[in-house]
Amino acid sequence: MALKREAPGRYASFGAADTERLGELVAPSLADGDVLVLTGGLGVGKTHFTKGVARALGDAHPVTSPTFALMAVHDGGRIPLFHFDLYRLEHAYELEDTGIYDVLGYEGACLLEWGEQFQDELTDEYLGVVISRVADAPDERRIALEPHGARAEELARQIDEAVERALGAAADSSTAGADGPKGA
Ligand SMILES: Nc1ncnc2c1ncn2[C@@H]1O[C@H](COP(=O)(O)OP(=O)(O)OP(=O)(O)O)[C@@H](O)[C@H]1O
Ligand SMILES: [Mg+2]
Repeated sequence: MALKREAPGRYASFGAADTERLGELVAPSLADGDVLVLTGGLGVGKTHFTKGVARALGDAHPVTSPTFALMAVHDGGRIPLFHFDLYRLEHAYELEDTGIYDVLGYEGACLLEWGEQFQDELTDEYLGVVISRVADAPDERRIALEPHGARAEELARQIDEAVERALGAAADSSTAGADGPKGA
């Protein structure tokens, strides 16, 4: 199975490659100042999603989990991508040291893992990307776009259109083959 659009802003992923693909489809809509808050539990796929975004922005450097660095900058693409992982941050006052206030909402696109725990200290204008697991299906995820604020709503609309276009085209080309769609 491959990435599926179940409803506007609601997608089904059947493996890490699908989640990366969604990130790739998100990237063209991103503009300077956009903030994505990626949520879900440990190992749900936030970093894989980010990999797809970085790749499609055109940054060739590998995305790893910036758990120790807290922030990784990918500035080799169309716009800079600031990837934060705030999992290890214990106190809101430590946010200052991560450099997040220098860029959040201004420069490049910011993707935050574990940002929801500091929601009050961060921005209230962001696009939530909520990834959840599916019972008894270890490689499946449901991914929902949850916009907060007018720009995030516009962004969610653009992303959904891009996904619809891309997946529509994929479905058309696969039905042309005799065997139908295969694998991811
Ligand atoms: N549909 C899926 N989408 C994303 N990852 C998947 C999926 N199915 C299985 N996986 C696996 O789940 C793991 C997700 O890892 P990833 O580092 O992206 O998660 P994370 O949410 O960033 O975790 P953490 O909270 O530790 O930062 C990988 O091992 C990946 O192979
Ligand atoms: Mg991660």
